[in-house]
Amino acid sequence: MKKNTVVIAGAGSTHTPGIIQSLIQKKDTLPLKKLILFDIDEDRLDRVKAVMTQFIKDNYDKELEVIATLDYAEAFTGVDFVFAQIRQGGLEMRRDDEKIPLKYGVIGQETCGPGGSISYGIRSIPGVIKIIEEAKKYSPDCWILNYSNPAAVVAEATRRKFNNERILNICDMPVAILLSYSKMLGLSDWTELDPEYFGLNHFGWFTALYDQTGKDRLPELREKIISTGMEACSDRHHKDKDWQKTWKQYAEIVKDYPEYLPNSYLQYYLYSSDVVKKMDLTHTRADMVIEGREKELKEEYNKFLADPDNYKSPVQEFTVFGDFIVDAAASIAYNKGYRYLVIVENNGAIPNLPADAMVEVPAYLRSWGPEPVARKPISSFYKGLIENQLSSEKLAVDAYFENSYDKALQAIAVNKTVSSTSIAKAILDDLIEANGEYWPKLEKKSY
Ligand code: NAD
Ligand code: G6P
Ligand code: MN
Repeated sequence: MKKNTVVIAGAGSTHTPGIIQSLIQKKDTLPLKKLILFDIDEDRLDRVKAVMTQFIKDNYDKELEVIATLDYAEAFTGVDFVFAQIRQGGLEMRRDDEKIPLKYGVIGQETCGPGGSISYGIRSIPGVIKIIEEAKKYSPDCWILNYSNPAAVVAEATRRKFNNERILNICDMPVAILLSYSKMLGLSDWTELDPEYFGLNHFGWFTALYDQTGKDRLPELREKIISTGMEACSDRHHKDKDWQKTWKQYAEIVKDYPEYLPNSYLQYYLYSSDVVKKMDLTHTRADMVIEGREKELKEEYNKFLADPDNYKSPVQEFTVFGDFIVDAAASIAYNKGYRYLVIVENNGAIPNLPADAMVEVPAYLRSWGPEPVARKPISSFYKGLIENQLSSEKLAVDAYFENSYDKALQAIAVNKTVSSTSIAKAILDDLIEANGEYWPKLEKKSY
């Protein structure tokens, strides 16, 4: 079996230990010959490297070469897979993305609304493009699996720039939800459920959930969620205190719209003003992440620094983030054709949506790429919501490539989370200032 070289771009992330844990657990599924940790921030890279080195040594074959680097040539030469998970501007800028809209009574969220699709979207695109260009320069045949958010907007940008040649944009949220479903149904693994699903990233619905006998378990699950709520029995990441609010709201969505089971991110669009009321302008999710998993990693690093020779890495818990990307890479590497929910160009998979929409649907992952599954047309409610969100995402990408203030304003104004153009303008002006050099200079068109 051919062994692989994998580079994690954005390796200073607190999600990297989860990926490494999955690479170790799945060393027979995706065997490695070399693991490269790449980041642009030396301190963050050092931290992860220090905390994970002993864990890798103890749990992987001695021949595995592991390097950490800040150098593009060293990081991207001779690689088979790039796992990209960068956050342009870091958690500090995530704070602004969340707080600026919230100041105007609009959802402040990492991947949704003006702070997510537009602010983070326009900021993220050049960072991801740079990674892909470097990867393709040094390893033209490598596959790039991208988690970097906002995945819907990034996927549209990589479609325009690279036609998504050997690029696959993915999200762990459907997997986190499937993990909860599978536990609620008493199944031992999320892969025991074969989902039918349609939508955009963070904007979709499960329409059927087949188990290994071919029975659709969605009706039973719907019943359970409506009567006893959604059990947050997901992985470590998706069950902290703040995530519990999401799972609570999940049951409300199912009660109001019981036809299909939603992606949890729909809460931000379908209940915008209610969710805003529960958000706290002085303490948003970015603050919680900084005080939570960021702090934990720093404390772990301090333990290492106190006694490097006798340092023992902490036991790593399973994350869907790690498991999914490793399984997806293995499916591509060995042409397994596993069926996963991924973000692909529509091309008729959802027949009554534009061919060039980046949609999230089931696809078989082959060594030559994803083969999406086509479904029947979707009905008005879903189509209307999706087309609205899709236009916001496409306009955000237009704004980036055309340096257009007008398109950025339209992207915000059309977004379902924003009720008025005066608010859209005020948010955009604040976002331009906050993003500074991270954004291209946006110009107003003269008419
Ligand atoms: P983080 O800030 O903790 O980690 C990101 C790392 O990327 C940092 O170490 C940073 O130094 C590095 N980085 C930033 N810009 C870079 C660049 N241009 N090139 C290389 N490295 C760069 O963030 P996080 O919370 O761990 O999340 C990482 C990314 O993964 C975010 O975009 C997040 O939204 C995304 N994410 C996506 C999914 C999904 O479902 N698609 C799930 C979880 C996280
Ligand atoms: C899920 C989503 C990701 C998102 C993350 C945020 O995993 O699929 O796209 O980035 O949640 O989680 P956090 O704990 O950082 O708020
Ligand atoms: Mn996601």
